[in-house]
Amino acid sequence: MLFESGRNGNVHVTATNSISQQADIPQFDVGLIDSGVGGLAVAREIQNLNSSVQIGYFADTAVFPYGDKNSIQVADRIDFLATKFVEAGTRLLVIACNTGSSAGLRSIRRKFAREGIQIVGMEPPLKPAAIHSRNKSVAVVATLGTVSGQALTNLRDRVATDTATKFIAASGLASSVERGELTGKDLDAVLQELLNLISSDGVDSVALGCSHYSFVYDQMRKALPDGVKLFDAAFPVAKRTLELWTKSRSSDDVIDVSNPISVFVTGDPDGFVASVARLETAGCMIPMVSVNPVPLPIN
Ligand code: DGL
Repeated sequence: MLFESGRNGNVHVTATNSISQQADIPQFDVGLIDSGVGGLAVAREIQNLNSSVQIGYFADTAVFPYGDKNSIQVADRIDFLATKFVEAGTRLLVIACNTGSSAGLRSIRRKFAREGIQIVGMEPPLKPAAIHSRNKSVAVVATLGTVSGQALTNLRDRVATDTATKFIAASGLASSVERGELTGKDLDAVLQELLNLISSDGVDSVALGCSHYSFVYDQMRKALPDGVKLFDAAFPVAKRTLELWTKSRSSDDVIDVSNPISVFVTGDPDGFVASVARLETAGCMIPMVSVNPVPLPIN
């Protein structure tokens, strides 16, 4: 058994067997899926709202970054990991990843509809960004996969028809965050592009369309002019999750004490732990996690 502790003593690594055996992954109140650390921003918000929710979390770092993969490959991974949670009895899932939701949400909703599995997806917060834009000029910053996916175009056509919407593929930014590096040329390039858009097109409202970007929210907020609004989806996704979770519980359910989030890392668990520690050192609020290495076959 392997045990490690992060800077604040709250990162624990426990060796487990492969989850190819169904019994190896327990049932959770909520199962979150992301390609890496990004969904921890959603998990943190869920725990802030209710610390008794038992959260399982797949960090699919073996396939990170989703943003550069084709949508079929990403959809297959989402299906694969969602199925692991469902097989273990988890009935509320959160795809805490915009790229994963864009590629795979529809098909897993269809797949699990009959079983009554509830699935919360994540999409760029374009609706509030458009509503709060005075100039009717908005930017969405996301991965290449999200920016080029049909889901974002559909979202724009649904919620922002009266608004000029620029999509920015922030190449490399999620990877920097995944390494725990919250400064550097990828962030600078995104900020420069946003500043250019603000001066040329009057963009006054920005939607962050990748769960990893929650961890650079403060840096972006500081760099953008005061009048520019910045929207992140971690909190609304957590709120929706809690609504569903609360409805699904019977009133005599016992409220458990708060537990760490059980993270199942498909790639290198040490790298994951190191990144989380770096994010903490950089000042990010990270929920308490227990990290389980789970080598999964790459399908
Ligand atoms: N966290 C993922 C998202 O919200 C992206 C990171 C990646 O490219 O894997 O889109």
